[in-house]
Amino acid sequence: MARLEEACDVDRFEGEKTITHDELVKRVPGKQALISMVTDTVDRAVIDAGDVLRVIANVAVGYNNIDVAAARARGMIVTNTPDVLTGATADFTWALILAITRRLGEGERLLRRGEWKGWALDFLPGTELRGKQLGIVGFGRIGQAVAARADVFGMRVAYVARSGRGGPSGPPERAPMPLDRLLSTSDVVSLHVPLTPDTRHLIDQPALARMKRTSYLINTSRGPVVDESALAWALKNRLIAGAALDVYEREPIVHPDLLPLENVILAPHLGSGTSETRMAMTDLAVRNVLAVLAGQPPLTPVP
Ligand code: GLV
Repeated sequence: MARLEEACDVDRFEGEKTITHDELVKRVPGKQALISMVTDTVDRAVIDAGDVLRVIANVAVGYNNIDVAAARARGMIVTNTPDVLTGATADFTWALILAITRRLGEGERLLRRGEWKGWALDFLPGTELRGKQLGIVGFGRIGQAVAARADVFGMRVAYVARSGRGGPSGPPERAPMPLDRLLSTSDVVSLHVPLTPDTRHLIDQPALARMKRTSYLINTSRGPVVDESALAWALKNRLIAGAALDVYEREPIVHPDLLPLENVILAPHLGSGTSETRMAMTDLAVRNVLAVLAGQPPLTPVP
């Protein structure tokens, strides 16, 4: 804020909750820059209201909340915050993989209910990761960072690149494969694709049916990549062993059928949520704004 205030007049939304769409449309006219969060829908109405708007700086790597085509048509620059959150998000993905395969949520809930009877040899047995296959859907920066951590846990990596055909071939322990094969052969499937019309409900009922009954689904990308009601049905009927989600179709609403299930970890969109990373994301958004307002190229325009 101090750095922005040195360079410009700042109108900061101070509400407890996210700004409403109406309020955003009302406050955009007369502003040359907009710093938006993933929770802000920057659609055509907001963009049309931006009579002097030059840059929209999203504090996120994903930018499905922005109508980029509409912004570009009006000559606006859209920026995001890649790289700075890659490590934090990959770490959190592993936190979810470990939590679901070792039944951490289930165990903690049980303990808090006062139902823990003490150590027992056969109590809440989890699933070993060593020697298993981690299937990564979307092999961009975050997908690759998740893969890089797999060696520590003794997992081999299979991946689908964005084209859906597998990406450039890497070392043999990183196997590109078509989505269907990745789903039917992986023990853990982790999603790292951006939300686009092509990836909406990429994981639907047929995709879930293709997965092994012993496998786990992890989603730290965007909620609508998974059909939540199909997932709840698959978890309930043990079509897959479990899931760990950080993102939802209608955040902050979570599909009610998921809430009573023991075989799912439900995190409140924390992927990039370390103080260090959130500060780095904010800092990058500010630098993007200041660059554009000074007539320089932005540091991280969306591709
Ligand atoms: C958060 O969800 C992001 O896209 O950075």
